Amino acid sequence: MTTSPATEVSDASELRHQLVEQLHADNHIRTAAVERAFRTVPRHAFAPEVPLKAAYADDTVPTRHAPDGRVISSISAPWLQADMLEAARIQPGHHVLEIGSGGYNAALIAELAGPTGHVTTLDIDPTVTERAARFLAATGYDDVRIVTADAEHLPAGLVPDGGFDAIVVTVDAWDLPWIGALAQGGRLVAPLRLHGYHWAIGFTKVNGALLSDEPLIVCGFVAMQGAGAWNTNRRTVPGTGVHLPWEDGTRQPVGQLAAALTREPALTREPAVIRTNITVGGQEPLDLLTLYLAGALPGFCRLEVDPDGDNEVLNPPPRHWPAAAIVRGTSLARLTHERIDDGNDGKGRYEFVVHGYGDQGHLAAQEMAKQVEHWQHNHRGARCPLLTVRPTAGHATVDAGHEPHVFAKKHARITVDWPIVPSNGGNRSTG
Ligand SMILES: C[S@@+](CC[C@H](N)C(=O)[O-])C[C@H]1O[C@@H](n2cnc3c(N)ncnc32)[C@H](O)[C@@H]1O
Repeated sequence: MTTSPATEVSDASELRHQLVEQLHADNHIRTAAVERAFRTVPRHAFAPEVPLKAAYADDTVPTRHAPDGRVISSISAPWLQADMLEAARIQPGHHVLEIGSGGYNAALIAELAGPTGHVTTLDIDPTVTERAARFLAATGYDDVRIVTADAEHLPAGLVPDGGFDAIVVTVDAWDLPWIGALAQGGRLVAPLRLHGYHWAIGFTKVNGALLSDEPLIVCGFVAMQGAGAWNTNRRTVPGTGVHLPWEDGTRQPVGQLAAALTREPALTREPAVIRTNITVGGQEPLDLLTLYLAGALPGFCRLEVDPDGDNEVLNPPPRHWPAAAIVRGTSLARLTHERIDDGNDGKGRYEFVVHGYGDQGHLAAQEMAKQVEHWQHNHRGARCPLLTVRPTAGHATVDAGHEPHVFAKKHARITVDWPIVPSNGGNRSTG
């Protein structure tokens, strides 16, 4: 059966309005301006390769793949676009830069900035910018300036006098080289990569630094290409199927861990196990604890095990997400969580348990467990930590020694402040 163009248009607008209702109900759309933008821009016109229903699902639409099958460009999920645009606080007349293009989000931004605003969208991939230009012209957003360049080095003449009022980054950002391009008081929203997670964060530029002031949102984005591509710094412990990424630059040797992580009779010892008595619900995110541990513990890394390379020493091996881990000489500790009951909602209740491996594994495990307890007693109730990002003009020494809750990137130094808000639950005794 074929549908007439008129039927398709009314189907698309019905699906679009349904999507907006959902984004509103879920509190991703919070202002009338963002709602109007989502009701106006025809998302399906930027994703002609997928059926209408897929274009209006609250999900990512992959639009370009690398030869090895990796997605290298996509239209981001509507819930995340809505959250990031709300965080960007774009006003009519604003000069806005979008980093990472595709067309749809630039059209939403153009609606927010209005006829007196100026929108620039920039992408490293000429296939993406050609496509974006085509779709933006076809939908009437031909005022959007489209630039093909590596965002690591913004082309001369791109930044307006006084800087952009808002910069919206829509690609995995390990670093933030764009602070100089932002106006004082301007907003920058980016999926910042901190130890294995992307956090969509809204910042305001105050006295040359970026200050966050809203909860961080865990999200996922396609990898940055070009000069700003991040280095996972992923090391493999020989003969174990265990990998340790130190993506924030702490470069430690890992060969000495092989004995602790190898199931050989002469070397085998049971791991040290520390039960923390601190629990988490099956639906409750663990991400903020991981961010806390990443800042609190020197030598923090994430631990991955090859799915078919499990040597039974790490039992159970981390499955969906790499585990929080620390290396101490020939020993290692990692965070696990064990199901203890079904929880009030049937989704399960889990206890944080730290395992230590190697001759000093019990000490490493104690060190990590102490920080889990510190987080529980001092910071677990915090709605969000506060981030301050100071530019370093590309001179930061990524390998500098550990400073608690400071993440040193190439262009920026990020300090995470954890407000003191004790937990109001999560101890096994209090349920
Ligand atoms: C998730 S897509 C952007 C989504 C888009 N903003 C939308 O309308 O939903 C991320 C884009 O970032 C681009 N990208 C990757 N590395 C880049 C770089 N160094 N500079 C500029 N763009 C880059 C990719 O080519 C890809 O098209």
